[in-house]
Amino acid sequence: MPVQIGAKTHNFTDPTGLLSDCHRRIEMFLETLAAAGKVMGAPPSVDTARALQSALVYFRQAAPKHTADEEQSLFPRLRGREEPELKSALSTLDRLEKDHEAVSPLHAEVERLAETYLETGSLSASDVQAFQTAVARLQETYREHIRVEDFTVFPLAAHLLSDSDKSAIAQEMATRRKVPLLGIDAAKPSE
Ligand SMILES: [Fe+2]
Ligand SMILES: [Fe+2]
Repeated sequence: MPVQIGAKTHNFTDPTGLLSDCHRRIEMFLETLAAAGKVMGAPPSVDTARALQSALVYFRQAAPKHTADEEQSLFPRLRGREEPELKSALSTLDRLEKDHEAVSPLHAEVERLAETYLETGSLSASDVQAFQTAVARLQETYREHIRVEDFTVFPLAAHLLSDSDKSAIAQEMATRRKVPLLGIDAAKPSE
């Protein structure tokens, strides 16, 4: 189920703004996971269970679309350009893609442990520790990853990509979410 958070989001005329909006959701749901990790020594309250489930759904369903937006829509169009100011940013794209791969097993571990916790109402002390460690590693990886994307890659993309490239990226993002690319508000992706 799509997750809509906060009233202020960018729209499809600003695809890199939309990608930054996704980063705010990633950060928020990582915080949700970290908060859950602190109370896993006891059965989950209704609020904790609901918040944890929302975070799991986000990382299972929505976050992969964000990765696809970057790897399939944005990065290839940046790699096709030759402006000198892009040179050092382009060299970071391979590293960003490696980060995308590196977080997969951590997300799988978090999901496995969280599902066990939600199903059984408890986790062993060592599993709580493993959950906390995996979440902390995710937060650490995403912190630097998002900083590079938000402050280096996306501003350059917004500045250098043509309007037709931006429109194509936006269209692909809309298609991934199965929403129409029509009106600004109507076309806001929620993932
Ligand atoms: Fe990324
Ligand atoms: Fe990103």
